[in-house]
Amino acid sequence: MTALLLALGVAILLVCLGLGLWYALPRRFVEVGSVAAAYDRWTNDQLLERLWGEHIHLGYYGLPRRRRDFRQAKVDFVEALAHWSGLDQLPPGSRLLDVGCGIGGSSRLLAQRYGFELLGVSISPGQISRAQALTDAPGPCRFAVMDALALDLPDASFDAVWTVECAPHIADKQRFANELLRVLKPGGLLVAADWNQRDDRQRPFNGLESWVLEQLRVQWAHPAFSSIASFSANLEASGQPLEQLRTGDWSRETLPSWGDSVLEGLRRPGAVLSLGPTALLKGLREVPTLLLMRWAFARGLMQFGLFRVQLQSSTQSSTVSSVMG
Ligand SMILES: C[S@@+](CC[C@H](N)C(=O)[O-])C[C@H]1O[C@@H](n2cnc3c(N)ncnc32)[C@H](O)[C@@H]1O
Repeated sequence: MTALLLALGVAILLVCLGLGLWYALPRRFVEVGSVAAAYDRWTNDQLLERLWGEHIHLGYYGLPRRRRDFRQAKVDFVEALAHWSGLDQLPPGSRLLDVGCGIGGSSRLLAQRYGFELLGVSISPGQISRAQALTDAPGPCRFAVMDALALDLPDASFDAVWTVECAPHIADKQRFANELLRVLKPGGLLVAADWNQRDDRQRPFNGLESWVLEQLRVQWAHPAFSSIASFSANLEASGQPLEQLRTGDWSRETLPSWGDSVLEGLRRPGAVLSLGPTALLKGLREVPTLLLMRWAFARGLMQFGLFRVQLQSSTQSSTVSSVMG
């Protein structure tokens, strides 16, 4: 009995210590370099890849939700988003840009499934080296270090732009929207999926919600979250001739991902423990943020926003300008 109480006391102490460290040592966004440094660390220690595989995004579980392997759910996410947005209708050989490509999981899948040519860009040199190491070369996928706010790419050079879970790391959302649309050819398609906060013009955040949002920002180098409405407004304000802007909300379809992110550590203990004791601590450090994310998405404080928009084709643009002119 005494031993049990002692073990319980130690466990409570460790949890309190862990929570204290989590709260006291956030990873704030300071400037774009803090995002690059955070992803370099998350890539080089291999923990994220061992647990989440090559896709650093949520999984898709459908509605009604079906149980499935987390990694399979991530593959299903890419295919479901390609279908939802109509990307899967583009012909093989289409040129795609994957902005905030992680270690290239989605880029490789889009190339393999649909025959597209991909350029994946990330702000993290560590991720780009890893993406290149995981990819056959020469092949349809290339990767480069690039800032999404200053893409070193010509105007009108891609048939489609794909960006998943990158925008929360970006401070200047309008410039981000402008860059994504600038590199699209006339008639090109933008597909974006991101963590968004509820539109607080409809219902302001209460004290608890504001505190949770602050933790979700400072723990994972997020300067700010858009709402679905505000990022739609950024796209519309880009000055590009848009048509068919459509949004969606997959908060419910992706919700089991947060629990699965934590459970992967228990399902694959060897993946963590083989990296040494610090990996265990690093893994435990992410648990409070993952649980807060789950709470926020389940409550509607956060929303998994989808965006799909096409640039007008050149014939439409010239018709519009001749009508306007
Ligand atoms: C959550 S990860 C998503 C990775 C990838 N889209 C996937 O689904 O596997 C966010 C990605 O955005 C990238 N990112 C964040 N800020 C960026 C910026 N300013 N320019 C380019 N990439 C950026 C990060 O380096 C990382 O690759």
